[in-house]
Amino acid sequence: MKNILITGGAGFIGSHVVRLFVNQYPNYQIINFDALTYAGNLENLKDVESADNYHFFKGNIVNEADIQKAFDQYEVTDVIHLAAESHVDRSISDPMAFVKTNVIGTVNLLNVAKRAWNEDLSQHLFYHVSTDEVYGSLGDEGLFMETTPYDPQSPYSASKASSDHFVRAYANTYGMKTVISNCSNNYGPNQFPEKLIPLLINNIKAQKPLPVYGKGENIRDWLFVEDHAKAIDIVFHKGKDQETYNIGGFNEWKNIDIVRLVCDEVDRQLGRAVGSSQNLITFVKDRAGHDMRYAIDAKKIKEQLGWEPSLQFEEGLSKTVAWYLTNENWLMRVTSGAYQTYYQQQYTNN
Ligand code: NAD
Ligand code: DAU
Repeated sequence: MKNILITGGAGFIGSHVVRLFVNQYPNYQIINFDALTYAGNLENLKDVESADNYHFFKGNIVNEADIQKAFDQYEVTDVIHLAAESHVDRSISDPMAFVKTNVIGTVNLLNVAKRAWNEDLSQHLFYHVSTDEVYGSLGDEGLFMETTPYDPQSPYSASKASSDHFVRAYANTYGMKTVISNCSNNYGPNQFPEKLIPLLINNIKAQKPLPVYGKGENIRDWLFVEDHAKAIDIVFHKGKDQETYNIGGFNEWKNIDIVRLVCDEVDRQLGRAVGSSQNLITFVKDRAGHDMRYAIDAKKIKEQLGWEPSLQFEEGLSKTVAWYLTNENWLMRVTSGAYQTYYQQQYTNN
């Protein structure tokens, strides 16, 4: 019997994690703690919202009192922490928002958990979901290992690195049981269309320009979001205290190649001439401090915990495109209003 507080459960990855835990573990109570920022959307969880073991708590991790209230109400036994400001471009224009949520929010959560679990810290797990960006940027060679020294390059990755350090410090100083996983780029249904793949799908559909930063030569390692959720399940249940697990797709792509692939897949599914949308590709000003390459060595989680990605990229991408084309209303709702202002600011004059 566990009462698990999942923070950021209304977001992209969080909603897939909540769904998996609600369906897979009827004996656990799952509390989705989310502030519902622009990136949080309860529509993502329509299919599980009436399950007996699902609960939603609207709260902000920047306010310790909100977290305390949720702990008191639900007698939280474990935390899976995903709530964060997650978009690199936004961190460049507003770093302080990232310090507040990602750093101060994480320390607030650690403090409430430490107080609540003080009688027997060994019975409770604080699981922090982090990113491969904490390791910095790779050249042509090499992979990020769990032992790679931290070298964050953007305000976003600096804030995530800082939160990782606090989690490790609380384990070392106070004896909290913790685990951290650092994952590569996720893609799949429900991702907010500020991120590359859903932004492309949305623009191709509307036949709008496809903004490619710089020369499109940066490389990312892509993982289907449901595979990440499965990895989180395995790390939560089998991960060793104070360990770190890197999670990746063994799936490196240059941005420009992804852009072409997405163009062709959307053309195919919309019955357009395959290749025609590639005319929309527009090279724009590069992201400031743009990391060149990320690539994860996911050997440890594979060998020690038995996890590996289940989907081939082409299959995952095809499912993703189909989801966005089918869920037109979802896409319309999240791209109306504030998204338009964001888009204007981010892409005008580029
Ligand atoms: P997201 O931006 O889609 O969702 C973030 C969620 O957190 C939203 O539901 C939002 O409402 C909530 N939130 C934000 N600030 C909050 C606050 N102050 N209090 C409470 N809730 C708040 O993010 P995502 O892409 O799903 O990423 C989830 C986590 O996984 C993040 O910690 C991110 O750093 C990490 N991660 C993401 C990726 C990726 O490719 N997206 C890869 C590796 C790691
Ligand atoms: O590696 C894990 C990280 O992946 C996560 O921690 C972050 O939360 C997540 O946002 C993601 O970061 P990236 O910066 O890699 O993702 P994004 O989708 O913003 O960009 C992917 C690549 O595409 C990157 O090299 C920048 C480029 N890009 C992005 C956008 C939005 C473009 O060329 N044009 C665009 O319009």
